[in-house]
Order: sequence, then structure tokens, then C-alpha cells
Amino acid sequence: MSNFTQLLITQAEILLPNGDFFLGDVLIKDGKIAQIEPSIDITDVNTILDGSGLTLLPGVIDPQVHFREPGLEHKEDLFTASCACAKGGVTSFLEMPNTKPLTINQAALNDKLQRAASKSLVNYGFFIGATGDNPAELLTSKPACGIKIFMGSMHGPLLVSQEDRLDAIFAQGDRLIAVHAEDQARIEARRQEYLGTSNDVSLHSIIQDEIAALNATQLAVKLSLRYQRRLHILHLSTGIEAEFLRHNKTDWITAEVTPQHLLLSTESYASLGTLAQMNPPLRSPENQPILWQALLDGVIDFIATDHAPHTLAEKAQPYPKSPSGMPGVETSLPLMLTQAKQGRCSVAQVSKWMSSNVAKAYGIPNKGLIKPGYDADLVLVDLQNYHPVLKEELQTKCGWSPFEGWNLTGWPVYTIVGGNLVYERDKLNTQVRGKALSYDNF
Ligand code: DOR
Repeated sequence: MSNFTQLLITQAEILLPNGDFFLGDVLIKDGKIAQIEPSIDITDVNTILDGSGLTLLPGVIDPQVHFREPGLEHKEDLFTASCACAKGGVTSFLEMPNTKPLTINQAALNDKLQRAASKSLVNYGFFIGATGDNPAELLTSKPACGIKIFMGSMHGPLLVSQEDRLDAIFAQGDRLIAVHAEDQARIEARRQEYLGTSNDVSLHSIIQDEIAALNATQLAVKLSLRYQRRLHILHLSTGIEAEFLRHNKTDWITAEVTPQHLLLSTESYASLGTLAQMNPPLRSPENQPILWQALLDGVIDFIATDHAPHTLAEKAQPYPKSPSGMPGVETSLPLMLTQAKQGRCSVAQVSKWMSSNVAKAYGIPNKGLIKPGYDADLVLVDLQNYHPVLKEELQTKCGWSPFEGWNLTGWPVYTIVGGNLVYERDKLNTQVRGKALSYDNF
């Protein structure tokens, strides 16, 4: 195992916490950032990484992923998913409870933590899923980054869609509640109306429409205001929700958006077919500028991939048999940095949305910034060159990306987790292991 006690990064463009860049060296000791100086003169260092021409950013914290282990390992597992993270500059992830068994009690949470400790190349955290019948587990299971509620787009025990059951969850305790906000009753009614008319996957965005998303977001905000309960809206997908939040959000409510809702739309069905099918669905192109503006204005706080791999064979089934979801952890950072390079936002904003704002929202201490004393979870990216997304280079077990062929800049050259070099110019160090995340609030 390459456990570098001392690592020196030289002459990189370092993103500082105030958003400025600084050309200099960073010394890492015992997994922490020890020093940031124009030049550090040290000889007894295990590894020196030449950062010249590269940009040093805090590692990405991806706050919504589905890594499928246990129970669905034919799609992905914690090892392959974490390899994809390392390649994509994602140094920590927060994973969702819709695995088999469901992560709805302490035993299932412990099992995931144990699996991740033995398999994950990057740092890991897990949500505890609400069933409506596990109030004690929601209060006590730990460490968990928060409670996940599927208000819609789910079946079985993890679906909690009725207002009285949701109210009971919001009323008890104070840990963060993250909601998948879609109105299940509306979706079911529209399914009856539209299914059978065609197998065209673009029906997905019509059945699970913008109003279904808005209804659920409004209900979640209402309950959060009623109990002053910390609420996070997962993968916000529509302009109307963003405008609703602009006027109704408080300082204990946060929201996220995915790169796919920012960059793909209902027009993507024509080329991607069911690969573009996800929940909440892709929206019409008019939504994109509104989501971007909400992100730029701070109405949307950060970015998550909702990495949800399915095999190509599963995706090849005709709609509605085809499952919803797409992978994302190894393309999210270059996708967003390419947008920055094109002038849509700054590199510092991308880092705020993908690292520091996530750490702040989930109360993850000492992560998300390049600052002495902080954990050395870092990524050196190349903002000079472009390289396409190629399926043969992907680490995710599902082996495809909706962004295949997109020519991107900002690809990670080195990824460092807790001071350990886990990815270096197309090579993974599969001996490295991440750590369980901790949370200030719980
Ligand atoms: O498209 C999706 N797929 N959205 C979700 O929220 C769940 C996910 C999955 O687990 O496949």
C-alpha cells in the first residue's frame, strides 16, 4: 500500500479558499495539507508531483450516488464505482439506500460501511432510508449523512408519498432530510393515461412531468417550514421548482442539480434513447438556463451526479421496462470545468458547487477547501488539453456514459485521497482505501 506520509505538489495553480489562484507548492503530511507556499524547499519527501501546467482543486464530494452494493453488483459495486470516482476526481461520495437489502437500519448501514472500508478507494458516507415504519432507526442509525426520502419514483418500502407519513418523519428529530421530490399520485395517474399509447421513451418526461416535481418540492418545503427541519432537495430538475425555491427557500433548505439536467434535455432522447431515461426525467431545453441562473445565484447550492448505473442490456429493453438512471462520477468534474472554460461560470464556482458547498451542507469537517489542516483530498486537473469521453476508458462497471464522445477539458491527472495518490495519468492505485466520512451535526 502506498501510504505517503509526505507528498509535495510543486508549481501548481492552487485554488485558494477565497477563490483566487496561487502558483505554488503544497506539502502534505499524514494525510493533511501542511503548507502552501510559493516554493517549499524540502528534501526528505516520499513523492514529488510536478504540478506545472496543472490546476489543483479540492477533491469532489459527490453527494448523491447509487453504487448498487449490496445486492445489485451486476450493475456496479463499491470497488468499481470508487475506481470511477478516483478517475473522475471524486474523493468522497454519499450513497443512497436503494440497495438490496435496503439501507433502513443500523445493521444494513454497518454492512455498507464495512464493505466500503474493504473496497472503496475513496471516502464514503451513506444515507439511511425512510420507510415510514422505521422512525427509531432514522433517529439513531449512525454514522449517516442524512435521511433519504423517496417521495416518488420508487416502489416498495422506500416509497413514502403520503403527506401524513411524510409529516411524521419531518416532525421527529433534527438530522438532514434529503428528498427525491416527485408526486407519486400524479405520476401514477399520468401513467394510466399515457402508457400503452407508445413505447417512445420521450413519454417519460411527459408522464413524470414538471408539475409532478413542483408538487413534491412544494410539499417538502411546506413540511420543512412547519418544523424548521433541515431539508435538502435532491436533483432539482425544473425551472419552475428553481423559481419556487428562489422565493421560498430559507437558510436551512438546500438544493442540488445534476450535470445531466444542466446539459442534456428532452432533445437528448433522439440520440440516446433509453440511456437518457432518469428520474426525475430530463426536461425541455427552456429549463436549462433557469437552472443555470439558479445555480449562479446560489438558489441551487451544489452539484450531484445521481450516478445510477444500469447495464446496457437492461437499458436496451423497450420503455417503460427500461430502468431509469445513468452513470456520472467520472465525467462530472470535466463536464463542469469545460463549461467554466467556455465562460458559463468560473473554475472557483465549479469547485464551490462540487466541493466546499457540499461539505458545508452536510457538515463534513475539514474537507472541500485547500487550506492548512484540511484533509489532503485533492485533484490536479489539466485545463489546457481536451480529450473525449470514451467508453473503453470508463471504470464504471456499466461501461457507458450519456456523454460519450463529448470533448472535455479539466480531466484529472492526479487524484489524492487522504494524502495517498489513488490515480495518476490513467493508472489507478487500487491499494488505497478511503475512510468513513464524519458529520459535525450528528
Ligand atoms: O434515475 C434514477 N435512478 N433516479 C433515482 O433517483 C434512482 C436511480 C436508481 O437507483 O436507478
